[in-house]
Amino acid sequence: MAQNNVVDLIHSKSEGHNPKVGIILGTGLGPFAENIKNKTIFSYDDLYGFPDAGVKGHAGQLILGEINGTEVAVLQGRAHYYETGNPDVMRIPIETLKDLGCETLLLTNAAGSLLPEAQPGSIMMLTDHINFTGVNPLFGETETSRFVDMANAYHPTLCEKFRTVADSKNITLHEGVYIWFSGPSFETPAEIRAAKLLGADAVGMSTVPEVILARFYGLKVAAISIITNMAAGMSDEHLTHAHSIENAKKATNDIQTLLSEFLLNYK
Ligand code: HPA
Repeated sequence: MAQNNVVDLIHSKSEGHNPKVGIILGTGLGPFAENIKNKTIFSYDDLYGFPDAGVKGHAGQLILGEINGTEVAVLQGRAHYYETGNPDVMRIPIETLKDLGCETLLLTNAAGSLLPEAQPGSIMMLTDHINFTGVNPLFGETETSRFVDMANAYHPTLCEKFRTVADSKNITLHEGVYIWFSGPSFETPAEIRAAKLLGADAVGMSTVPEVILARFYGLKVAAISIITNMAAGMSDEHLTHAHSIENAKKATNDIQTLLSEFLLNYK
């Protein structure tokens, strides 16, 4: 445990919180934090080893509290590999979630779609991933547990729960394989054609290193993407970050309902 002091600090200021579910809020999902009751808020600036959450639209806060009867620890804002060149930039926050008692990690992100039926403003549950960057957040780790089994990394039971919730709320939940590109430049159309051949359905610049770290720490994982654009070469629209944030707003209601209902039925 590299960051005992951080966990002690959090415990000392958040008595009575026993989070079971960690949540990482990606681009456009910051407002989901408004649903948290009995909040205790920590700025990443006060938590040693937590990143500067750089990209516009990300706040950089750890929030402990409760949503629909489930105790949560919410990371509002993430750092990306492309900001620092460190693939393990989210290691301490995820280790902290584990040390606080979380057993599950729900990840959200913004992604481009390679599936014609999954249009901007829709949502997609990830069932697997392809690490296309060649880097790994466990580089340098010496424990034997670094050889993490990545089969069923996206927990089948959690995925099934999300399907059930989506069904009951009439939410269209696409499913697919996410491919991680380093960014920060968007992909070329040729890269997207290659990704399609490899079996990808969504593309993005985050999440995969976090899933690897979460599995390393023994957390169960589920991940939902907000589709903000069709991947490069699949539509005539220009890819911009501002555009991503605009389209993310369209999917906000669906993903918020999905997460809230999931937490209502957790356990
Ligand atoms: N590519 C990579 N990352 C993204 C995209 C994309 O098309 N859309 C949102 N994040």
